[in-house]
Amino acid sequence: MCGIVGYVGRAQAAPIVLDGLEKLEYRGYDSAGMAIFDGERIHITKSVGRLKVLQELTHDGGTMPGCLGIGHTRWATHGAPSDENAHPHFNAKETIAVVHNGIIENYLPLKKKLEGRGYTFRSETDTEVLAHMLDYYYKGDPMDAIIKVLHRVEGSYALGILFADFPGELFAVRKDSPLIVGQNKEGCFIASDVPAILRYTREVTYIENQEIVRLTADGLHIYNVDEEEVEKTPVTIEWDAEAAEKAGYEHFMLKEMYEQPKTVTDTISPRMRGNEIIIEELGMDDGKLRQVKKLHIVACGSAYHAGVTGKYVLEGLARIPVEVDLASEFRYRNPILEEGAMVVVISQSGETADTLAALRESKKRGFPVLGIVNVVGSSIAREADNVMYTWAGPEIAVATTKAYSAQLVALYLLAMKLAQVRGTVTQEELAGMMDDLRRLPDQIELLLNNKNRIQRFANRYIAARDVFFIGRSIDYAISMEGSLKLKEISYIHSEAYAAGELKHGTISLIEEGTLVAAVSTQPELYQKTISNMVEVKSRGAFVLAVTCEGNREIEKAADYVIYIPHTNRFFTNSLAIIPLQLFSYYVAVGKGCDVDKPRNLAKSVTVE
Ligand code: M6R
Repeated sequence: MCGIVGYVGRAQAAPIVLDGLEKLEYRGYDSAGMAIFDGERIHITKSVGRLKVLQELTHDGGTMPGCLGIGHTRWATHGAPSDENAHPHFNAKETIAVVHNGIIENYLPLKKKLEGRGYTFRSETDTEVLAHMLDYYYKGDPMDAIIKVLHRVEGSYALGILFADFPGELFAVRKDSPLIVGQNKEGCFIASDVPAILRYTREVTYIENQEIVRLTADGLHIYNVDEEEVEKTPVTIEWDAEAAEKAGYEHFMLKEMYEQPKTVTDTISPRMRGNEIIIEELGMDDGKLRQVKKLHIVACGSAYHAGVTGKYVLEGLARIPVEVDLASEFRYRNPILEEGAMVVVISQSGETADTLAALRESKKRGFPVLGIVNVVGSSIAREADNVMYTWAGPEIAVATTKAYSAQLVALYLLAMKLAQVRGTVTQEELAGMMDDLRRLPDQIELLLNNKNRIQRFANRYIAARDVFFIGRSIDYAISMEGSLKLKEISYIHSEAYAAGELKHGTISLIEEGTLVAAVSTQPELYQKTISNMVEVKSRGAFVLAVTCEGNREIEKAADYVIYIPHTNRFFTNSLAIIPLQLFSYYVAVGKGCDVDKPRNLAKSVTVE
């Protein structure tokens, strides 16, 4: 996730900006840059790589004099990490500089329009569109130009903007990306997050959507889009620096779980326009998509589990055959790939060695590879024929949560697109599904807000030895992910089983008090799963059920029930996973485990 910092005041800006960027390093980034006004003009220094490079290039800011500046750490979205794509971005005359956190969804039509007006682009970013648009609308009044741009862009943004004509002023605005402002005796600050300015002030004001801030050395003023001043009361930050990095959450994992509504929105909304699913990144028109006869999904760990869900959804909705493989198996099993096959590799990091090897093997055999990847510019993103990005932002906790949720919805979109072109759903059904997708973020939020109840339940299982997760069809896929979450962070042995398979051996492991989490969200399978719950309960198991609202019958077979809101039956995993993540998290916290960095595990598995 990009980080932005800005300062205007009586002190030198560059060292303050660099210091703030350093405090935002935890957010993850691939390049960094600064724009400083030196009294005459704006200078930009930026570079791909670590912040250290920028510090060296500027002698810790010493070579960039001036008391007004903005800085940025970039997490690549549009365009790979490079010097050109790093922020800040200039207009052609180098009189306006912009840093941006977020995604401008309609940047392509805007770019086309600007090119038609004679603007040329130096980068592949969506952000550069903003610099040129500001230039186009700027007629001497920065507020007027900013407001005109806001009315025309769609997506999310937090912006820091310098206008050379206004040497003592810093401008900032946000929509759906975080932005805070602060002030001390020396000047005023903007930042994406509290740690960046905590050293300078503990009085922080949170900027709301479409509020514009005008900052000078002496103070700051906040306006709405009608240019009316808005009064806001700063809050006092009590957190220490470490807690501030996690926005007050105890762990990155919890913070990332809470980011899931946004992650889902960011991944789906650029690809849903009106009543249509548009996935430009597939690089295939409808005719070509229709020629795809079979999909091979290949991935590791949680990404593999997302792929298993994807199989049910793709087969169910688009009636296209799907095979799902663990990448470590696929690469050595000499898989049979037939004409019309397309390989879909899924990876958060884009660097997983086995997944990368599977991709290379598929390409060697001449099959097209689609990557569903989170990290822009990663090896898998570079080598896949086409990439559909999940917009989860950097994930820091080793146990994936938000990237997994983003993978799920990316697969739903792919399934819906294929269903549309293959004619396996009506336009009306598709519109209904799109509405259900749009509701998911609020429903996820609702479930996250139920955390106290799950925490109380989890506290009872801190000493558990074995836990089983069971479910049928799509519920089996989520059981696999629920089980992995629990074992990787709490070190409790856990297994996921297809509910109907228990009686073929595994049921002998059920003892008095063994916890069995049964996921049952598919109406046509309720009765079947209830029978399996009764089987384990009668052998002494304590049964936790996760089911859809209204399925009261399950209470007869379960000891504890968690209800999820109604959604399309193919999307239930996006909701069922939330209580399972929270359960694993609170068990691990209760046991005193190192939740964000579980033993023996790495975030990115770059070895075989
Ligand atoms: O970066 P990737 O998505 O390719 O990583 C795949 C797995 O290593 C990853 O999902 C792993 O299973 C996580 N620790 C699960 O939380």
